[in-house]
Amino acid sequence: MEFFTGDWLNAIVRLAHVIFGIGWIGASFYFMWLDANMAKPVQPKTGVEGELWMVHSGGFYRVEKIHVSPAEMPPHLHWFKWEAAFTGITGFMMLCLVFYADASVYLIDPAKADLTPVQATFIGIVTLLAGWAAYEGLWRSQFGQKGGWPPLAATFLLIAGIAVFLSQIFSGRGAFLHVGGLMGIIMSASVWTVIVPGQQQLIQATREGRKGDPAYAAAAKQRSVHNNYMTLPVVFIMLSGHYPSTYGHPQNWLVLILAALVAMAVNHFLNMHNKGEMKAWPLLLAAAIFVPLYWLTTQGTGSASLKPGEAPVAFAEVRAVIAGRCNSCHAAKPTDDTFKQPPNGLVLETPQKIRANAQKINARVVLTQTMPPANKTEMTDEERALIRAWIAQGSRLD
Ligand code: HEC
Repeated sequence: MEFFTGDWLNAIVRLAHVIFGIGWIGASFYFMWLDANMAKPVQPKTGVEGELWMVHSGGFYRVEKIHVSPAEMPPHLHWFKWEAAFTGITGFMMLCLVFYADASVYLIDPAKADLTPVQATFIGIVTLLAGWAAYEGLWRSQFGQKGGWPPLAATFLLIAGIAVFLSQIFSGRGAFLHVGGLMGIIMSASVWTVIVPGQQQLIQATREGRKGDPAYAAAAKQRSVHNNYMTLPVVFIMLSGHYPSTYGHPQNWLVLILAALVAMAVNHFLNMHNKGEMKAWPLLLAAAIFVPLYWLTTQGTGSASLKPGEAPVAFAEVRAVIAGRCNSCHAAKPTDDTFKQPPNGLVLETPQKIRANAQKINARVVLTQTMPPANKTEMTDEERALIRAWIAQGSRLD
């Protein structure tokens, strides 16, 4: 795609995705909070289960949670369902724009699997669909309907298994974003396949003056709880592109699983806190999982420490490597076929700029080896070792 068109399209779709996501997740957090904070009305009112007073943006608001009788059924109800649909749709568009349109930069890692862009795109889409179908099948089966821990554990293993599989064939970022995308698809599809139909039958039953079918309500509740616990892990995955120490780790699937567990434990703490139960154990659990996670990420492949007896590296050699492997993109006027502007504004053409960015270069070239992307310019291990030694020796310019 033409560079500027691609950039603007990316910016607009990403913005839409984030805004819809805020609308959806924000509303669901708000309703969790509302439910937890509703109090019995001071003066009992017929049909009112709970009420709540709030002050916001220059006004007072009173919310009531009520049992409606058929006669009181309002003609218009707000559903909060389009946010979920559009978050899902724009999310899939982002996946296409970033990972499928530029598969050779972002999705394919020839060191893991030498796929063509068509093959990689096919595997990505099939994995998303199969993962979602497996989740639906699991929760619609007898096993899932029974509830309890076993189907939850099976769901966790399913998603973790897909994370392991994808990390073996895709670039780190590609694998992470597909796992996040799968969870996002599960979440937004649940709204439409289970939660909204559950609410629809409740409305229908109320209109007809009968009691709703408790099985629908139970399934809707189940999916809402899943969505709630997937929220923080998904948001973490969506932001992980900024943190190469996560997706760039050789065991990045383990980093992802542990980080998801930390996020879910924190989520549990927040849920309990909302209910007015201040319990320390979820936070302690989160910390207990974070310690090995932190340790794991410090054990990357590379290391910038000085090795004994290492010959001093001349800056001229470093500069030649950067000119050969980096400047096709990281230059004021890149010559790369995809990048017509220096990515992240990073220009590595002068000694001063190279030196000033030594720690960033260390992170991407030595520690996580996430640059060059998909090793597009075929940097060798010897060249990485040279950069490592130069940085360990104090990134000198002589
Ligand atoms: C094919 C183009 C391409 C090549 C070649 C390339 N990079 Fe990058 N680089 C990118 C892109 C795209 C990004 C932004 C996305 C990301 O961070 O992964 C980036 C980001 C970076 C960043 C992060 C900048 C920041 O602000 O955090 C560093 C550091 C970096 N590259 C260093 C290098 C070095 C050193 C080389 C050569 C060994 C190199 N890159 C080769 C495309 C390239």
